[in-house]
Amino acid sequence: MFTPVKLANKNFLSSLDISSEELFHILEIAKNFKNKDLNIQLKDKVLGLIFDKSSTRTRVSFQVAMSRLGGTTVDLNPTTSQIGRGEPIRDTARVLSKYCDVLAIRTFDHSDLEEYAKWSTKPVINALTDLEHPCQALADFLTINEEFLDFKDVILTFIGDGNNVANSLILSGALLGIEVRIACPKGYEPNSLVIKKAYEIYKNKNLLKITNDPITAVQGANVLYTDVWSSMGEENQKEEKDKDFLGFTIDNNLVRNADKDAIILHCLPAYRAKEITDEVIEGNKSRIFEQAENRMHAQQALLCCLLS
Ligand code: CP
Ligand code: NVA
Repeated sequence: MFTPVKLANKNFLSSLDISSEELFHILEIAKNFKNKDLNIQLKDKVLGLIFDKSSTRTRVSFQVAMSRLGGTTVDLNPTTSQIGRGEPIRDTARVLSKYCDVLAIRTFDHSDLEEYAKWSTKPVINALTDLEHPCQALADFLTINEEFLDFKDVILTFIGDGNNVANSLILSGALLGIEVRIACPKGYEPNSLVIKKAYEIYKNKNLLKITNDPITAVQGANVLYTDVWSSMGEENQKEEKDKDFLGFTIDNNLVRNADKDAIILHCLPAYRAKEITDEVIEGNKSRIFEQAENRMHAQQALLCCLLS
C-alpha cells in the first residue's frame, strides 16, 4: 500500500509541474483509491472551485473526490460572485486563500491561472485553460495503464485539434517516455512551446511525431484519442473548423488501421459524427466512460499529494 508523498511544487498548473516520478506516484495512488485499498482523510479541508467555463466531469469529479476524502467543496460561480464583476484576481486569490485549502480553476487565459497561483497562498490546480488540461491527462494515463500494464511501449495517437488536451497529453507523454503522435490539419498543430518542452524531456526524440496525415498516424497505435474540433471559447470558428477537419473523424475505417487491440479515448463532451462516430464511442474498443470515471480517482490522488 502507498502513502501519498507531498509534491515538490505548490501548484498543479501544467502537466510539467510534476516530475515523472511524481506522475507515476499519483497514478499508483489513484489505482489504490480505485481498488478501495486506501483510506486517506482530508477531514475539514475545503476545495474552492472557480469555473469561468462550463463543466460536468471536472466539477463533479472534484466534488465527489473531495467528499470521499472527508473534505468539502465550495462552488464559486463567477456570475454570482464578485469575480464576474471584475474584482482583480490578486484580491480574489488572497481572500479565498484565507477560507480554502486548495483552489481548482477553469478559465480561458493560462496567464489568469498563473495570476491566481501567484497571489494564492494555497495550492492552485488547473481545471482547464486554453493552453492545458493536466487533470484530464492524469485520468487518461490511468486508463491507458489499466489496459496496458507496461505502458511504456504504448503508442498514443491523438487525432484532431492541437488544443489544451493535446498539449497536456504531449507533456505527460514526454514525462512517461511513451510514443505520442498528433495528427491534425495544417495550421492546427499543438502549441510550439509545448512541443519544444516535450522534445527537451524526451531522451528519444523520435517518440513525438506531429503529422497532418491521420491514416499514417494510427498505424500500429494502441490508443486512439480525440477531442472536440472547436473548444470552449471558439464557438465562432466552428463552421470553418468543421470544414478544415474533414477526414479527421475517428470512425471504424480509421480504427481498422490501428493495432487490432487498440482502445479509443475521448475526454468528453463529444460531438458525435464530427470528431468521432457514435459507433466508435459505443463500440467494444471504447474506454471513454472508464476514462471519465478515472477523473475522480486521479483527482482524489492529486488532492492527497498536494495537501498531505
Ligand atoms: N473532460 C472534461 O473536462 O469534461 P468537463 O468539461 O465536463 O469538465
Ligand atoms: N478542448 C476542450 C476540452 C473540454 C473538456 C475544450 O477546451 O473545450
